[in-house]
Amino acid sequence: MSASTKPRDNWGSKLGFVMAAAGSAVGLGNIWKFPYTAGDNGGGAFVVIYLFFVIFIGFSVMLTEFAIGRRTQKSAVGAFKSTDRRWTFAGVIGVTSGLLIMGFYPVVGGWAIAYIAKVGTGLLSAPEAIGDSFGGFISDPIQPLMWMAFYLFLNIVIVMKGISGGIEKAGKILMPLLFIILIIVSVKGLMLPGSMAGLEFLFSPDFSKIDSNVILAALGQAFFSLSLGMGCMMTYGSYLKKKENLVQTTAMVTAMDTGVAILAGVAMFPAMFAFGMAPTAGPGLVFVVVPQLFAEMGGIIGLLLALMFFIGLSVAALTSSVSLLEVVVSYLIDEKGLSRVKAVITASSVMAVLCIFASLSLGGVGPTLFDTGAFDIFDLLTDKIFLAVGGMLVCIFAGWRLKREDLEDEITNGGEVKFPLFGLWYALVKFIIPVAIAIVAFMGISSGFDSGKGAIMLLGVGIIAGAALISKKF
Ligand code: PHE
Repeated sequence: MSASTKPRDNWGSKLGFVMAAAGSAVGLGNIWKFPYTAGDNGGGAFVVIYLFFVIFIGFSVMLTEFAIGRRTQKSAVGAFKSTDRRWTFAGVIGVTSGLLIMGFYPVVGGWAIAYIAKVGTGLLSAPEAIGDSFGGFISDPIQPLMWMAFYLFLNIVIVMKGISGGIEKAGKILMPLLFIILIIVSVKGLMLPGSMAGLEFLFSPDFSKIDSNVILAALGQAFFSLSLGMGCMMTYGSYLKKKENLVQTTAMVTAMDTGVAILAGVAMFPAMFAFGMAPTAGPGLVFVVVPQLFAEMGGIIGLLLALMFFIGLSVAALTSSVSLLEVVVSYLIDEKGLSRVKAVITASSVMAVLCIFASLSLGGVGPTLFDTGAFDIFDLLTDKIFLAVGGMLVCIFAGWRLKREDLEDEITNGGEVKFPLFGLWYALVKFIIPVAIAIVAFMGISSGFDSGKGAIMLLGVGIIAGAALISKKF
């Protein structure tokens, strides 16, 4: 039976929706990716550009996705398809992004769960070995795979239970816990001698460090962190009740997501500088700095806080990855007529295969493209190209394919909600954001050619163009 003949599940409560959408947004993107990406891209200046993109592009795109989702009552692909078949590819690119992000996200989610076990079995008792232990762990062929499989299994269980049962409950209970732990970690880090240099690195911008790579990285980070550009928030919006205030919801989700990212930066950088570690530590940053910090504290308190931190991180990761899985699953249910169980099994099997390649690539095993392994390819394609271009397509679709009156009607709940900035939002969506993204992506790709990255990003653009050409087939 196709989902269109069934009444659509609704979010149990308003808070439930905000927490579930925030649960999707707040995840590894904030706590694992944001700090090391900021570190790799020069610190303060990256943060300023990132915040700029969040406010002017992220907010607008999220509002657009919620509006389209609720208007059409369909998930990513159906929302486009039901309006204009030629636009189906935009949704399909979103589903593809979901698959590809889930081709590496569970690998890192698995690390987070593994660290609960590692902390519990004495990781903190030898602080000098924490860095090497991470390097050794992720390049091991077998261990990370088992944790990844366990992580993916948890996703499958949650998504099989359906929307209000699984996702909402997980989000509501566990997000506040994570927030509190991050505050404790931050305070602890800031108390260490030499920590102020970390704050300075994070917040005093040195604009000489900006180039087109940094700008594209900031744009990609904004999209990734806010779960935008792939129909995820569109799918969530399709389950949102007609009476909810979209503008307020968007503002709350954006603020929470950005708050957690900045807080994660504050939790990480002061401690790093105090420990004399380089800010360019890469993807291992959170797995090295945080345990070190708790080892420093010592005793049972250090141990308990470390345990709680990695439990919180795993849960934050889970509430995000279930939303990624949900995008692919909704597509299979709504468009291909699969049952929920079959859809979950199909989607997660493909993801498992991608994750095996991604995990092995970190130990130097498996195929490479332009000297880049699977983990980095999936990350580059999605974070640097698919999400940003996906967001651009969402804006073009809303601005040029939907009617202004319909959008206004949807966003203001038929005139009930005041949104004085509607005109500005509309101009951003229709003209400014598509042009801005095109420029940032073009410049980022061109300068990426210094390494193999430009070629992979160009490949991403090619895939999107190809999908557009055969759009009616999806
Ligand atoms: N926003 C999530 C995070 O920060 C990742 C994500 C991206 C989830 C895109 C859904 C869609 O971890």
